[in-house]
Formats: sequence, structure tokens, C-alpha cells
Amino acid sequence: MREDWHDAISRVDMDRLWQRHVEMARIGAIAGNGVNRPAFSKEDIEARKLLLGWARVRNFGVAMDAIGNLFIRRPGTDPDAAPVMSGSHMDTQPRGGRFDGIYGVLAALEALEAIDRAGVKTRRPIELVAWSNEEGGRFQPCTMGSAVYTGAKALEDFLSATDNDGIVLRDALGQTLAATPGLGERALAAPAAPAAAYLEAHIEQGPRLEREHKTIGVVTGIQGLRWFNVEVFGESAHAGTTPVGARKDALREAIAAIDALRDLTQDPSDTTRFTVGRMLVTPNSPNSVASHVLFSVDIRHPDLATIDRLGKGVEPTVRRAVGRCTVKVTPTLHDDPCAFDSMVIDCVERAANALGIPNLRMPSGASHDAMYMSRVCPTGMIFVPCERGISHNEAENAAPEDLVSGARALTSVLLELAGS
Ligand code: GLV
Ligand code: MN
Ligand code: MN
Repeated sequence: MREDWHDAISRVDMDRLWQRHVEMARIGAIAGNGVNRPAFSKEDIEARKLLLGWARVRNFGVAMDAIGNLFIRRPGTDPDAAPVMSGSHMDTQPRGGRFDGIYGVLAALEALEAIDRAGVKTRRPIELVAWSNEEGGRFQPCTMGSAVYTGAKALEDFLSATDNDGIVLRDALGQTLAATPGLGERALAAPAAPAAAYLEAHIEQGPRLEREHKTIGVVTGIQGLRWFNVEVFGESAHAGTTPVGARKDALREAIAAIDALRDLTQDPSDTTRFTVGRMLVTPNSPNSVASHVLFSVDIRHPDLATIDRLGKGVEPTVRRAVGRCTVKVTPTLHDDPCAFDSMVIDCVERAANALGIPNLRMPSGASHDAMYMSRVCPTGMIFVPCERGISHNEAENAAPEDLVSGARALTSVLLELAGS
């Protein structure tokens, strides 16, 4: 390996990386060591400012686009070269942990900082990106920032999304953009080739690396995903006086629909993943029959034909299960399985081996912004272990030694992709 690259990789600092996780975890801290930092919230804004502060200390260029994706750039020697991009997200689940998303952002910052401290010149710029609203916990769907950036979706498609308190995304996003004035609004990239390559570091969010005593997952792709909002419309009525047979009970029929969906997605191999994680009940009172229920459907499978069949089965299954009520099924996300670029996969594997980091190739069960980026440029991901595979949970944990190993491999691959 080139000596200056080696110097840069050796400057990736475990304590600095860990301390930054600790500082970030204070923003939106909740009981049990968790973090609640919803997209476009005041906590999200505070996290953005903290990140920008670290970037400015090293004089990196900063920019933001119309959906609030944040870019931190170290220039290359070729002013015309497209950047190599790396990052992840800073928003969390409502009861999220200290590593999901933020690790990929801080690992990319650490790579930029180490390369900068070593004074290495790269031909291409290296650009950190912190994607807006990856989680979709507050505003649905997820992975909005990368969907808009890559041209898969238009910004306008998302502006009227509403959170559980009735706040509209347009307003929350407006506040987020206004909170960091002076960044200028970077035009959204054209769908074609916005980057030379994209590499995202993330905790695995599953148990495999830990179980197999490996420190790096060389990610080969992401399984397919279908999201829906199902609404059941009934009629509010008195719980004590209305005969059961005369009711249009939206909650009871929503439960029947969920049972039917569970049958549709039953899979003895446990490859199919089916989740109903969100439900809004109106009027949500113990002694009123529910007049309206909205619930989410999340189905995942690595095989295209299977996820397609299951996705197409959702609406007819729900309609069959619902009797007296009426129903509306709205697809909110349709992501086919994606395979990452073999050049990037090989590059990650080579870097891990060269650094002596035990690794294995694996697919991703979780969704990531890398999925959208893989449509527009060579893309890959680096996983590091998390304790017992726990994620989307306050108890999410990862070891500083593993985080830094991932950041070293990331630095090495970014250097190779950015060239000299
Ligand atoms: C992202 O957190 C996902 O839903 O996989
Ligand atoms: Mn994530
Ligand atoms: Mn997540």
C-alpha cells in the first residue's frame, strides 16, 4: 500500500470517533441509552449543527440541497472529477439507538479528517453525505433524501407527508433549511451520475458478524421491500349500547386484515419479513367503536419474484378480510432487491484483507440509502457488528474497536476510489 495512504489510515482515531458518537447521542437522548432524533426535528437540526461545526474546523466545504441532504466535501486535485461519496443518516427511530445511521456519517467524517491530517491528495473530491429522513419513523416513507437526490422520486411527492401530530413535512423541512442559513441551496443533482461511487458504513443490525466472529461485513446487496398504508373506514358507535352485529368496527376488521396478511406472508424458512409497526386508531377511546384505523405494512424478501407476488397480494388479501367496513390500500414504497457493484465489493474485501480485518460477504436485511445510490453509481457497504444484533432499540450497542476497524476499511476504499 502507498505510504501516504497507510499514514492516513493509521490516523483514523478510535477515541475521536467514539467521542463523537457520545456527543451525538446526547442530542435526543432517551432513557435506556437510546436516542430519539426524528427527521427535521429540533434534535435533527442540532445534530446537523454539531456535524457542520466539526467540518468547518477542518475547512471542508459544506452544502445542503432542497430536501436537506447535507454535504461535506474535501476537494480533489481534478476540479472536473465527480466525487466519491460516503455517508448515512442522522435521524433515528422513535426509540432508536446510538449507532444506526450516525455511525456511517461519523465514519465518513473520520475518513475525511484522517486523509486531511495526513495531507493526502486525491484526484476526486471525497464527499460526506448525511441523508435526510432515512428512517421514515416520523414522516413516511423512509430513505427520502436519497430517493430525491437520485431522481427516483420528486421532492414534491413528499412535501405533504404528515407526522402523527399533524405537522406537514413541508413546514418541518422549511424550518430545518432555515436553521442553517448561509449554506446556500445546492441544486438537486441530475439523476445521471451524481457521484463516481458511493460507499456507506453501517452497523449490521443483525447477529451474523458477532456469531461468526467477523469484524466486517462486505455487503453484496439489499433485499426487496414493499410498504403500504392500509386504512379501514368504519363507524363510531357506543360500546355499551350498539349490538355487535350492527357495528362497522374498523379496529376489529383491521385486526382481521392483519391476520390475513400474516397468512399471506407465512414462510417456514423465515426469509419473508412481515411487520405492522404503526397503527392510528380513531377516535381511540375505550368505549367508542373505532371509526377509522390506519396501519402500516412492511414486507421484505431478497427474491424479486417473491416480493413482487407478496406485494401484489396485499390489497386483495385485505379486501377479502374486511367485511362491513370499507378499505383503502396505498402503496408507499416499492424497492426491488438490489445487487451492489462487483468492483466496489471486491475493493471492500481487498481492503479488509489487507488490513487484517476478519470479514465475510453478506446481504443486507435492512434498507439503506445505498439502495437508491446503487441505481446511479457503483455502490457498496461496509457492515460492522452490533451487540447481539439488536437495533431499532435503545439497547443498540457496538464496540469502539469494531467501529474503528470499519472506519479504517472505509478510509482505505475511499482513497482507492478517489485515486491520485
Ligand atoms: C431502515 O431502517 C429500514 O427500514 O430497514
Ligand atoms: Mn440506518
Ligand atoms: Mn434504521
